[in-house]
Amino acid sequence: MKVLVIGNGGREHALAWKLAQSPKVQAVYVAPGNGGTAADARLHNIAVTDFAQLADFAHAEKIALTVVGPEAPLAGGLVDVFRARGLRVFGPTKGAAQLESSKAFAKAFMQRHKIPTAAFETFVDVAAAHAYVEARVGQSGAPIVIKADGLAAGKGVVVAMTPAEAHQAIDWMLAEDEAGNKLGVQHNLGTGGVQQPRVVIEDFLAGEEASFIVLCDGRNVVSLATSQDHKRLQDNDQGPNTGGMGAYSPAPVVTPNVHAKVMHEIILPTIQGMAKDGIPFTGFLYAGLMIDAQGQPRTVEFNCRLGDPETQPILMRLKSDLFDLLMHATDGTLDQVELQWDRRVALGVVMAASGYPLNPRKGDAIHGLPAEAPDAMVFHAGTVAQEGGVHTSGGRVLCVTALGDSVKLAQQRAYAVLAGIHFDGALYRRDIGFRAIKR
Ligand code: AMP
Ligand code: GLY
Repeated sequence: MKVLVIGNGGREHALAWKLAQSPKVQAVYVAPGNGGTAADARLHNIAVTDFAQLADFAHAEKIALTVVGPEAPLAGGLVDVFRARGLRVFGPTKGAAQLESSKAFAKAFMQRHKIPTAAFETFVDVAAAHAYVEARVGQSGAPIVIKADGLAAGKGVVVAMTPAEAHQAIDWMLAEDEAGNKLGVQHNLGTGGVQQPRVVIEDFLAGEEASFIVLCDGRNVVSLATSQDHKRLQDNDQGPNTGGMGAYSPAPVVTPNVHAKVMHEIILPTIQGMAKDGIPFTGFLYAGLMIDAQGQPRTVEFNCRLGDPETQPILMRLKSDLFDLLMHATDGTLDQVELQWDRRVALGVVMAASGYPLNPRKGDAIHGLPAEAPDAMVFHAGTVAQEGGVHTSGGRVLCVTALGDSVKLAQQRAYAVLAGIHFDGALYRRDIGFRAIKR
């Protein structure tokens, strides 16, 4: 069978790498792919991103299954286009992807279905938003959280430590300049049903974050191994938020008790709620959790896809055949599936380009990339294969991922592999996994 993976990040390299291991898979195409997928003889990059052209390709090549990695094509309706053409595709429809593409949709959904999350209000009016911050901070104090509605590539959330910061964030996201343009944030109007620039203002949640990712076929749910990523740029969780500087699996903060609570209070009500609302969810559902000191999980966000970089360690631990799993997921038979996991810990360290996250430098040559080992794999993200070798082409460049019998051993192995890889200006954290080691 032939498989098509949509996307070009580390997550998609990991998906393609894992799918290629299935004895049933004869070829994996990646659109558009990256320098890592280009270098693997089992994978084939195709330079197509237009939905109709992708569907033409899938039809012509008799692709048995298409998997969509990133949020943008999901929010844009790629799954709807493929389904309308009778093509088998795994991912949520444009309507279901609103769980990620619109913060206001997700918050209203959680409120309606009594899914634990931070108290919030949604605003289109600048003055009303400012007044709410004053009232709310008066009641429960700072920090308070300001979120732009719509996809914002990780830049749409401000955890304001003071009221002044909150007011500034509101102006940046909602206020207009003299020409009537909204400042600061792309609100992606028109995608995911978002018609007007809006902000969600919500209470700050204290605790430890974890990523909880499941597969859904619309009715049945299978949970993947738990994971935790490190969003801040610098060691000890300092500096600006990024898309993720590293991740590991499993996440010890998700105890069996917390796991059961998440399934019963968050995941199952979400799947049932979406079905009840007439927009059944098929695809990977990622609940970003905040788990408080009492072990109570609350939803910080939903993503309608796998996490990046969480996917890289998670798929290193998956022993089951991913192609079989996704065929069940698209047949609606996930109730027949039980997943097998490597008992070891997997840990991935992101190597990012100089200037990441705001202004990453491109075009640096990457040296010392190792061959794949049974316990270590370098997944590519922002790389491109050129004459003369692999070069950087984006913010997150590589995710160096390794298995070990403990978090400490997986960490040592990942950093030992990383030490052999060089490109100018490489940025990485030296403490990925520290929360799990402290425990
Ligand atoms: P989001 O895009 O909604 O996941 O937000 C990005 C990051 O901001 C999260 O991973 C959290 O670290 C932080 N964050 C978002 N909302 C809250 C909240 N209500 N309380 C505390 N931290 C938050
Ligand atoms: N690692 C966070 C995300 O994929 O959104």
